[in-house]
Amino acid sequence: MNAIIKQVEKILFNAGIEEYKQEAKLIVESISGLSLDKIIAGFEIRNIDKIIEIAQKRAESKVPVQYILGFSYFMGEKYIVNKDVLIPRDETEILVIECYKLLKDRNKKIDILDIGVGSGCISCALAKKLIDKDIEILAVDISSEAIKIALENADKLDLIRKIVFRKSDVYSKIRDFEKFDLIVSNPPYIPIAEKCNLQKEVCFEPKVALFATDIEGVEFYKKIIKDAYKFLKIGGFLAFEIGINQADIVRDLLIENNFKNIKLIKDLANITRVVIAQI
Ligand SMILES: C[S@@+](CC[C@H](N)C(=O)[O-])C[C@H]1O[C@@H](n2cnc3c(N)ncnc32)[C@H](O)[C@@H]1O
Repeated sequence: MNAIIKQVEKILFNAGIEEYKQEAKLIVESISGLSLDKIIAGFEIRNIDKIIEIAQKRAESKVPVQYILGFSYFMGEKYIVNKDVLIPRDETEILVIECYKLLKDRNKKIDILDIGVGSGCISCALAKKLIDKDIEILAVDISSEAIKIALENADKLDLIRKIVFRKSDVYSKIRDFEKFDLIVSNPPYIPIAEKCNLQKEVCFEPKVALFATDIEGVEFYKKIIKDAYKFLKIGGFLAFEIGINQADIVRDLLIENNFKNIKLIKDLANITRVVIAQI
């Protein structure tokens, strides 16, 4: 392995950073502008001082590396991120893939509502995967700052014509005549009581993106499920990312609200991460 990568790994490891190997590669690749293959092949690494400076900043501050670099990857695409948006997570890719499976064979126009757009990763990834379809995504968030970043990401990925952004508290600014084939959401779902048990890095992410105020962390699922019937087309789908131990509660809420074809999808760690249901 290259000496600079080793040096960065050591700085991060000594600071107790769990994913020090992946982060070291990310820092060296992005600041040098070289791929890992080229680094290993011995290409000259530029900006070494900057690389070390960023590694030290990460080690000392514990600010997530993605915020320091200003970007993160999601489904192979680079997304701008800052302190106003949640850093896209790997498990959210499962949600996108499941939504894609639901819609990939549609021939009619597809309308999607993304509640809590954040960085825009779900809306942009779906728009990109369904690029050949007649698709319109309405992406809402309560945070104007998040919408600004999502808009920048959609613009950078050339998806502006597919996604409309709107500030809305869940459904508050959705009009009665707006109907969707799919309502997708990765809402805030960490119970506020768990705040003190979180990794230090998570505390740098926006509270509005992380926390639900009820004990079980399911307040947003309740709100979204309760009024979904007003905004879903006949046979439309609801798709959620959920937190650990929330699958049974969300499934019961869906059953109570007459949803059918409920499907629970697990991640590689065998944790149920995604729930899909049909009206
Ligand atoms: C867990 S983050 C998800 C961000 C992004 N969709 C993702 O998957 O990475 C939840 C998002 O919901 C937004 N949010 C929180 N409360 C909301 C509300 N009442 N109405 C709409 N959006 C809300 C937050 O601002 C945040 O962007």
